[in-house]
Amino acid sequence: MQTVDVVVLGAGAAGLMCAIEAGRRGRSVFVLDHAERIGKKILISGGGRCNFTNLHCRPESFLSSNPHFAKSALARFTPADILALVEKHGIRYHEKTLGQLFCDRSAHDIVTLLERECKDANVRILTATRIECLTQSANPSAPASPRFTVETSSGAFRASSVVVATGGLSIPKMGATSLGYQLAQQFGLALVPCRPALVPLVFNPEDRDRWCDLSGLSTEVVAVATTKRPVRFREKMLITHRGLSGPSILQASSYWQPGQPVELDLAPEAQLLSPLFARNARRDTASAVAALRTLWPARLAERWLAVYPPSGWTNATLEAFERDLHAWRITPAGSEGYDKAEVTAGGVDTAELDARTMESRKVPGLYFIGEVVDVTGWLGGYNFQWAWASGASAGRAA
Ligand code: FDA
Repeated sequence: MQTVDVVVLGAGAAGLMCAIEAGRRGRSVFVLDHAERIGKKILISGGGRCNFTNLHCRPESFLSSNPHFAKSALARFTPADILALVEKHGIRYHEKTLGQLFCDRSAHDIVTLLERECKDANVRILTATRIECLTQSANPSAPASPRFTVETSSGAFRASSVVVATGGLSIPKMGATSLGYQLAQQFGLALVPCRPALVPLVFNPEDRDRWCDLSGLSTEVVAVATTKRPVRFREKMLITHRGLSGPSILQASSYWQPGQPVELDLAPEAQLLSPLFARNARRDTASAVAALRTLWPARLAERWLAVYPPSGWTNATLEAFERDLHAWRITPAGSEGYDKAEVTAGGVDTAELDARTMESRKVPGLYFIGEVVDVTGWLGGYNFQWAWASGASAGRAA
């Protein structure tokens, strides 16, 4: 039996950042993970280059039942803070688009950074360690006595603080488990129902027959996410062999509820049919296809005309045709689920946690950070920023 100050469950982005902050304060810290190596999701993130933060990080870019909850942590560990660490380790990076910062070389650089910082802060990491159970001591309120016991396949640990950083349900084959949610329930904390987010959407059978043979085609769209205040994402949409993907769709998917339509403007800020309104312009299918092709791939333009032929060539019907392509409403049959979702929305109810420290209000010494909490970022480095920020907050308190 080892007795330490802090045990962190999960050696992902949030857990490692928490361990570093706690270790720097002189706390004795163990990080435990069932995977054979640390930071597996970091390694596959951002196409292998890890989009480690976003320069435009704002609380509005996160979904949560309490939109204010993330503000405190995000203000106390900002993109500039992770950037300072990245620069300290001489990691070269670039802004790809929309404030998204990626490593020039490889996501391995970020994992190496975290490993080195853990070493400097005397954090001990045990991989390939199965968590068997977490129990509270008989007298958890007695000062100086460790409040928790964690039993694992690598032995038992007594700790005054336990930080749950076991992530969400996305990509089970990478080792995602529901442990964090189970622990929350074990200690009586409420959960917001989980759902796959940042996930490709699947067409209903009718749309699949219409579009799926165009798999691989993409175009820039505005996807409108239906919330209290609609959010608009102007990015690429990709047709897949099952439905729609691409950044605009992934973003909208986080807000999507089954049965709801998704609304897409397929030609943002353009009036595609305006050539057909010119004096003496031809008005027929070929001229309409030519007009759509100025923005879209040819096969998409042709298919659109075949699926939605204008009901005539009058000004009124052409205006209606133009309006429809700026407000294409499709009702997906579903999403590709946790196998393909980048993140899990929902999780430990933020009402259960102190927004400054991530500590449970009901169970002193028990903390929840990262994706397991009901805070989900947009695509583009926001989820890692939440992992760093919530991890740092807990690490400064645990
Ligand atoms: P994370 O999942 O990283 O870590 C949890 C840890 O807990 C893992 O090491 C796991 O092995 C361990 N664990 C789980 N269950 C356990 C158990 N029962 N026992 C012991 N250990 C257990 N975000 C972003 O901002 N930029 C990006 O570029 C990307 N790219 C990206 C690509 C892909 C393919 C995916 C799937 C996701 C992304 N993300 C992303 C999202 C990002 O990876 C995610 O939000 C963070 O990794 C969450 O960090 P956490 O530390 O909370 O969980």
